[in-house]
Amino acid sequence: MGQLGTARLFREVFGAGPEPVISWAPGRVNLIGEHTDYNEGYVLPFAVDRYTEVALRPRRDGKVLAYAAAFDRLFSCELPLREPERKGEWSDYLVGVLLELSKRGELPHGFEATIIGNVPLGAGLSSSASLEVALAVGLSRLYGLELEGLELVELCQRAESGFVGMPCGIMDQYASYFGEPGKALFLDTRTLRHRPVPLELPGVSFLIVDSGVRRALAGSGYAERRRECEEAALWLARRFPGRGIRSLRDVERGMLDEVRDEMPEILWKRAAHVVEENDRVLKAVEALDGGDVQGVGKLLTASHGLLRDLFQVSTPELDFLVEWGLEHGAFGARLVGGGFGGVTLHLVPREGKEAYVQDLKRAYRARFGLTASVLEVRPAPGAAHLSA
Ligand code: GLA
Repeated sequence: MGQLGTARLFREVFGAGPEPVISWAPGRVNLIGEHTDYNEGYVLPFAVDRYTEVALRPRRDGKVLAYAAAFDRLFSCELPLREPERKGEWSDYLVGVLLELSKRGELPHGFEATIIGNVPLGAGLSSSASLEVALAVGLSRLYGLELEGLELVELCQRAESGFVGMPCGIMDQYASYFGEPGKALFLDTRTLRHRPVPLELPGVSFLIVDSGVRRALAGSGYAERRRECEEAALWLARRFPGRGIRSLRDVERGMLDEVRDEMPEILWKRAAHVVEENDRVLKAVEALDGGDVQGVGKLLTASHGLLRDLFQVSTPELDFLVEWGLEHGAFGARLVGGGFGGVTLHLVPREGKEAYVQDLKRAYRARFGLTASVLEVRPAPGAAHLSA
C-alpha cells in the first residue's frame, strides 16, 4: 500500500517482514496571509496534491534506521536520544519529532523507516512540514500514542522551531494536517481555529513557478523579520498604552498613520505589511465566498507588492515572475512562503495555460539564464494513515 511506492522501497531497503505502517502528509500553498502567522494574524493556506510518504516498522532494539529516497541516505541513531546534534539536513526533522515525542513519554523501541515524496524540496511548499507531520502521524500509530489534531500540529511546529532551529509559525504544519480537498483553510492563528473555504474557481488553474533560486538568507532573514515584528508590536504597545496591543494582530491602520514620522522606518514598514495583509486575508475570504476570481487575483498581487516593498522578502527573480504573469493574463500572482527565493503562485485561466508556461519559461531563461520549473497544484486532503 501507499500511493508513492514507499512500501516497495521499504522492502528493497529493509527486506520482507511484517507490513509497515504507512502515513503521508501534503505540502501547502498559502493563498494569502504571508508573515502573519507569527503575529497572531490570519492565513489562508491549502494543502496541495504533493506528499511526503513514510513507511515505518518497529524493531526489537532501540535502533532507528531511516532511509530518505530523495537523498539516497541512511540515517541511524539510538533511542533514547542523548543530546543529539543538528546536522543541517533532512534527518534533523526526524530527530526533532523524536525529541518532542520523547517529552511525552519514553519511546519503548526503535524502528526502520523509508521516506519518499514529491513535494519540491526547500522551495516554499513546506516539504519540511509535510515530513514532520507524516512522521508524527505514522509514529503515533506505530507507538500507539493518541497524538492527533492540534496537539500533533503543535508538536511538529515545536520540532521545527526547537531542534531544527527555524522559528516558524504554525501555518505549514496546520495546513499539512488539516487540509481538505477543494478547500482553503481560513485560519486565525490567535484562536487556532479555522473555517474551510471552498476554493473552486471555475476555469482557473493554480500554477506554482519555482524560481530555482534558494537564498542562504532564508533562515536568518526569516528570523530577523520575526524579531522586527515583535519589536514593532512592543513599540506600538508603548506608544498606545491601554489599547490592548499584544501583537501586530491588535494594531489598527489608523495607529500606523498617526506614527508614520515617529516610528523607526523599518519597524513601521514591517508592521504596515502585517496589518494590511491581515485585512487582505479577510477580503480574500469574502472574494472567494462570492466566487470573485478577479478580486482574489488583485489581492494576491497587492500582497506581493507589499512583501516586496514593505516586508522586503522578495528577489528580482520573484518580482520578474510575478510581473511577467500579470502582463500575460494571470488574474494575480505573488511569492509564497517565507520569501528570499523559492516559488511564486500564479492564478491563471485554465485555457491557454500550456502556452503561458512555455512562454514564461522562455522569458525567465532569457532574462536570468535560469530554468523555472512549473507545476499545477490542487487543494488536496491533509495527512492520513494509508495502511497498517
Ligand atoms: C514559512 C513559515 C510559516 C510562515 C511563512 C510566511 O513558511 O514556516 O510559519 O511564517 O513562512 O508566511
